[in-house]
Amino acid sequence: MDGARDALRRASRIAVLTGAGISAESGIPTFRGPGGIWRTYKAENLATPEAFARNPELVWEWYDWRRSVIAGVEPNAGHKALAELERKMESKAREFTLITQNVDGLHTRAGSRKVLKVHGEIWTLRCTECGREREDTSPRLKQVPPLCECGAMERPGVVWFGEGLPPKVWMCAQKAAIESDILLVVGTSAVVHPVAGLAAAAKSRGAVVVEVNVAETPVTAGADYSLRGPAGALLPELFA
Ligand code: OAD
Repeated sequence: MDGARDALRRASRIAVLTGAGISAESGIPTFRGPGGIWRTYKAENLATPEAFARNPELVWEWYDWRRSVIAGVEPNAGHKALAELERKMESKAREFTLITQNVDGLHTRAGSRKVLKVHGEIWTLRCTECGREREDTSPRLKQVPPLCECGAMERPGVVWFGEGLPPKVWMCAQKAAIESDILLVVGTSAVVHPVAGLAAAAKSRGAVVVEVNVAETPVTAGADYSLRGPAGALLPELFA
């Protein structure tokens, strides 16, 4: 902990990558591991373009349920510590980039201002025909599947398995990771590519890699510091 904390204090460019684990203490189930969503539901039936083409009602019902779960929780101490770190870094004219795979919007609700959402956001709806995007933060949609102004069906504004990441957002995320002095990897199993490759890419360009996770992951062996425990407890301590 001390070594990682000192390295963070010295860094002029910090990048942070978060995954579902940071929202676990808010009460949102992770995807893998004990109680993980993919242990109950099959990703190929719910989170692929093919699943949506086959049964948009089912996919939308599942996303609508997830929206209601997320709307009922609050950002936790881990989200808040990252928002606070962003403010601290900016007041010292240092660079801070938060990259998240989470679609829950909790970083924004915790006060983080710049968030690179590489897997999109559950509150965004995108038209399957005209591509128009809109935000709807109501816990349950009035109509499922929802329709665009143009009359066509909308889809969740998230990235599904088999789809590319939003190019600009992904470019910014890669740049921030490889140019960082420190990449902090929090609460991700680091198995879903291309995001999972960010830690190795940053490391190969000289970044110090710090992992915060309750369990070992593929990042652990190559990390300079691997802190074992819940993000909500460790992050405030790490940034103190
Ligand atoms: P996962 O569910 O795969 O991994 C969650 C990670 O968080 C695991 O490594 C846990 O050990 C860790 N964890 C759990 N509780 C924690 C806590 N309180 N503090 C710190 N760590 C904790 O979630 P992601 O890695 O985010 O993509 O998954 C990546 C992508 O796979 C998701 O964005 C989603 C999913 O399928 C798509 O749907 C395309």
